Amino acid sequence: MGKRTLVTSALPYANGPIHLGHLAGAYLPADFYVRFKRMREEDVLFICGSDEHGVPITIAADKEGVTPQDIVDRFHEMNKATFEQFGISFDYFGRTSSPVHHETSQDFFKVLNEKGVFKKKSETQLYDEDAEMFLPDRYVKGTCPHCDYAEAFGDQCERCGTSLSPSDLIEPRSMVTGNKPTHKETEHWFLPLGDFQDDLQAWLDSTENWKPNVMGQVKSWLTQGLGDRAVTRDLTWGVPVPLEGAEGKVLYVWFDAPIGYISATREWAQQQGDPELWKKYWRDDASDLIHFIGKDNIVFHCIMFPSVLMSYDGYILPKNVPANEFLNLEGQKLSTSRGWAVWLHEYLKDFEPDLLRYVLGIGLPETRDADFSWKYFQDHVNGELADILGNFVFRTVSFTNRYFDGKVPEAGELTEEDRKVLGEITRLKDEVETCYETFHFREAIQKSMTLARAGNKYFTEMEPWHLRKNDIERCGTVLNVCCQITAALSVIFDPVIPDACGKLRSYLHIDKTGWPDIKEQTLEAGHPVDKGEILFKKLEDETIDAQYRKLEEQTRQQDEQQPDLEPIKNTITFEDFSKLDMRVGEILTAEPVPKSDKLLKMTVDIGVEKRTIMAGIAQHYDPGDLTGKKVIVVANLKPRKMMGIPSEGMVLMAENPDGSLKFLAADAENGSTVS
Ligand code: 2FM
Ligand code: ZN
Repeated sequence: MGKRTLVTSALPYANGPIHLGHLAGAYLPADFYVRFKRMREEDVLFICGSDEHGVPITIAADKEGVTPQDIVDRFHEMNKATFEQFGISFDYFGRTSSPVHHETSQDFFKVLNEKGVFKKKSETQLYDEDAEMFLPDRYVKGTCPHCDYAEAFGDQCERCGTSLSPSDLIEPRSMVTGNKPTHKETEHWFLPLGDFQDDLQAWLDSTENWKPNVMGQVKSWLTQGLGDRAVTRDLTWGVPVPLEGAEGKVLYVWFDAPIGYISATREWAQQQGDPELWKKYWRDDASDLIHFIGKDNIVFHCIMFPSVLMSYDGYILPKNVPANEFLNLEGQKLSTSRGWAVWLHEYLKDFEPDLLRYVLGIGLPETRDADFSWKYFQDHVNGELADILGNFVFRTVSFTNRYFDGKVPEAGELTEEDRKVLGEITRLKDEVETCYETFHFREAIQKSMTLARAGNKYFTEMEPWHLRKNDIERCGTVLNVCCQITAALSVIFDPVIPDACGKLRSYLHIDKTGWPDIKEQTLEAGHPVDKGEILFKKLEDETIDAQYRKLEEQTRQQDEQQPDLEPIKNTITFEDFSKLDMRVGEILTAEPVPKSDKLLKMTVDIGVEKRTIMAGIAQHYDPGDLTGKKVIVVANLKPRKMMGIPSEGMVLMAENPDGSLKFLAADAENGSTVS
């Protein structure tokens, strides 16, 4: 056994299904890494689970009118199954609503509290009087003070990425009632991150090979100086704060979620029948801890969680946090609310996991944001998996079957070309290995394909179909070389496309999958080789077009469910408002206007007088249905001509997001004022 490594992938929120952005950020690279380490027979443990607390969960539950537990039960099971089907090979997939997690995170809180690590402070927070609740994190939206984005959340602005507090928002509004929040005093426990500044700096200085995008972000946090961060919230859903007098308070989700990695490891150890085994991975300096995450989680994994681990004492700190940037889709930011996403469970209805594992793998957003498009998917499946890897191995196994009786032929004396191409096996093995070790997965995969490319080129240049007729011995040597390369490919590609590699090894009758098995001479002459099948079928244009249609349909459905509402206009004063003279009126007559499809001409009794008012409602109302209708009229609007007819006021209407119109009405005397 080599060294010991604990690998974690960010715990996905159990409030929705997994999409490609999640995969490219925290799951696929971790799985490549873990599979590679297992092939080297290293002691590696791969931990993940569902993040079942936090405001995104309760908001999803409120929206559907179900309990938060209903939501997390549904998505925990769904996501666990999807990961399994996609070949993400967690050793354990836990959940933060489990009793072990509640106990572990409460123990962390209690120990830190007893050590006097926290500051307890009273502060005013936003409060929704009607909902009778505080409005932490995503329960409040407003304008970002940094970039003026009107839809910023209370914990983060999704446009400029700044981390916020609800009280930073300009013109905040409650996500529960839409009300303007009031301020109310509440008491919370804070982690004074500033106290850890020096220790964090020392730990970061001792680390190696961190990605510049990750280290850059962490350094900038440290340079700005760290403040106090509340680790409790006034909410009912979450891990209860384990202290007397803290009723109605729960642990902040970003306090408890990373501890979820520990709880899940404890549950795994129990499952192994050795409940203390988790300590070997968390409390032993001989272990390396690697967190795979997306870039939005960097501060929590590189500042907050390490501070918690340091305070508790005895825990190892992450050796590396190879966070990825974001994945865009068809040139646009992924958006689950707009339906602009490819859901993994949907993908799996139409395609094999290996295709996406490969295509996402070669284009991972390792150092900058990357883009996924269905055309890119098609190009790389067809151009590389099918035309290079698939073509080479199929040519090799089918030729061996057809002309060498399904047995690896004897190799005669090797030529320089033979030795050169065989030498690629060891050369690329070493390079790929270094890439995996240093978290350069794109390169690892591209280099693995270089071996297939070299094999394919060799096959073409050697022209075994001619050799077969005039130099069968040489033909046998060429095929022997091709079989060795095929065997090496079935192993070197295993972390990326495990299903295809498994199939290929079954054709070659080899069951070893260790990294050392990537060598120049794997198969003896006479070793059986099955005919095999084509590993990767080419994707037709229609198949890809269907995916575009699916994406369009998703966004259309989402738009229908969540029609775009007009944003709120700029604030006006009461004085501005009071300039309007609005009156209750009654439509006396309504008639079409010649040469206009849209306008109706109405006579409206507004109590004090009768007015001629034009309205663009002809496509929504039959004039005959309008007589006697109560309406509200803006009575002091400057008259203006429409189709040559002066309109002496405006009838108020509400416009639905689908464009349909409704009259505003009041059951009051004509002429009554509206205010
Ligand atoms: O951003 C997210 O999706 C979080 N649920 C990640 C949590 S990672 C860890 F700390 F649990
Ligand atoms: Zn912003």
